[in-house]
Amino acid sequence: MNANSEVVALNARVQQFISQPRKVLIDGRWVPAKSGESFDVFNPATGQRIARAAACTKPDVDAAVAAARKAFDQGPWPRMSPSERGRIIWKIGDLIEDNLEELAQLESLDNGKPIAVARAADVPLAADLFRYMAGWATKIEGNTIPLSVPYTPGAEYHAYTRREPIGVVAQIIPWNFPLLMAAWKLGPALATGCTIVLKVAEETPLSGLRLAELCQEAGLPDGVLNVLTGFGEPCGAPLAAHGQVDKVAFTGSTEVGKLIVKAAANDLKKVTLELGGKSPNIILEDADLELAIPGAANAIFFNQGQCCSAGSRLFVHEKHYDRVVEGITEFAKEIRIGPGLDVRTQMGPLVSQTQLERVSGYLRSGAEEGARALCGGQQVPGTGYFVEPTVLVNTSNDMKVYREEIFGPVVTASPFKSVDDDLLGRANDTLYGLAAGIYTRDLGKAHRLAARLRAGTVWINCYNIFDAALPFGGYKQSGWGREMGHDALNNYLETKAVCAGL
Ligand code: NAI
Ligand code: MG
Repeated sequence: MNANSEVVALNARVQQFISQPRKVLIDGRWVPAKSGESFDVFNPATGQRIARAAACTKPDVDAAVAAARKAFDQGPWPRMSPSERGRIIWKIGDLIEDNLEELAQLESLDNGKPIAVARAADVPLAADLFRYMAGWATKIEGNTIPLSVPYTPGAEYHAYTRREPIGVVAQIIPWNFPLLMAAWKLGPALATGCTIVLKVAEETPLSGLRLAELCQEAGLPDGVLNVLTGFGEPCGAPLAAHGQVDKVAFTGSTEVGKLIVKAAANDLKKVTLELGGKSPNIILEDADLELAIPGAANAIFFNQGQCCSAGSRLFVHEKHYDRVVEGITEFAKEIRIGPGLDVRTQMGPLVSQTQLERVSGYLRSGAEEGARALCGGQQVPGTGYFVEPTVLVNTSNDMKVYREEIFGPVVTASPFKSVDDDLLGRANDTLYGLAAGIYTRDLGKAHRLAARLRAGTVWINCYNIFDAALPFGGYKQSGWGREMGHDALNNYLETKAVCAGL
């Protein structure tokens, strides 16, 4: 940890925001949980309580869904002109930018991530997402369709499609990018004219609540966005199962993703899922190692490894294996670990005691199964939920550390001989299919390999590049559907065919 730190002093708005028990937003009003219960929110850098949030349960879910239902069935939002809707969504982006420092401090305090990253990435990306989706509000169009109908010879028809909002959507998000995950979910749902019940993660409720205030300030009508705080089973589960919800969008563990599908099956509501990953990052024989070594290190260590897209299985051509592994190990040793609010911090704590235990469990299991840590491999002693960045070698494809999502700063590195002999099969040999990385100077080779990787995103000579315009989502057990880009609108639209006999 840093001896002489440069910790950001919390601004007055942040201090005030965390000093009172946070309420939740239902039908345009800020209210406590109906049970009166609340829960502690912790600073992961210290393990100390920083705030209290409302512990919502089924009665709160019922009230929030009823508000969203009313706002959809009777309210102005789905009926407003697309241009007016787009203007409000654009305003949300502006307000996020106006409040960048406050949101970045809340995010760093609550999640533990480096403030420098929250300022440069999480908050600006969230603002940009709303602006990107604001532009779509006026561009959601159907088609006119020429018909041939063979059994009504001579008859004429005018047929067209309308793209209509799916209705009331439940959105359940995790804690790794609390503000940004809220933006990814809210942006397209708002652009299409849906109304929303958002449940933020119990570990990190703060920035989502502040975002909801900004949405009100931007002019979002009452009931269009309802935001609940609470735990998975008492709050998330009744939301996912609710009979008045038309669609559920979820980001989180594959395990809970399967529970969401089961909950939604009762009334066949639509579901999209963004789940786990165990993404291969591949350094080919002709790669630029000056680019590939820091690239591979950041691919796993960014956000303390708490990225669904983390490049957690590194494959290096045997010719460069020793040099690359050594380079990443050096990189890892140089990373400044500390509280997120220290401006010099490059890696913060994991989000919670639970995640610390989960990641530590994987490190123990790796050691027991014979993997060797070239660096790291331990929890950082002292307070807070810090884990050392870790490079594991001597792994095999039956080890838990190689197969399962660790969601911490832990990479397995293995050598390969050639793409066809022993790389491609291993790269694709995973239940997941979220992302993959390729480092090479031969772009023909890169694009051919990109086509053969079973993953929703392939990064070439870069990694973890996200943009509001670029669709993101998983093959296989990494999920259903795509977020961001115009693909994301499909998650929130129904297609209606209208056929008129002339
Ligand atoms: P989780 O899947 O339990 O939590 C994500 C969200 O789902 C939270 O808002 C939670 O309250 C809610 N939830 C939990 N149980 C629910 C249920 N039965 N019905 C409805 N909603 C429910 O993930 P958790 O426990 O925080 O992390 C466990 C692991 O999941 C991590 O170690 C990581 O491997 C993975 N994960 C993946 C993420 C991703 O971005 N794809 C994000 C967070 C976690
Ligand atoms: Mg869980």
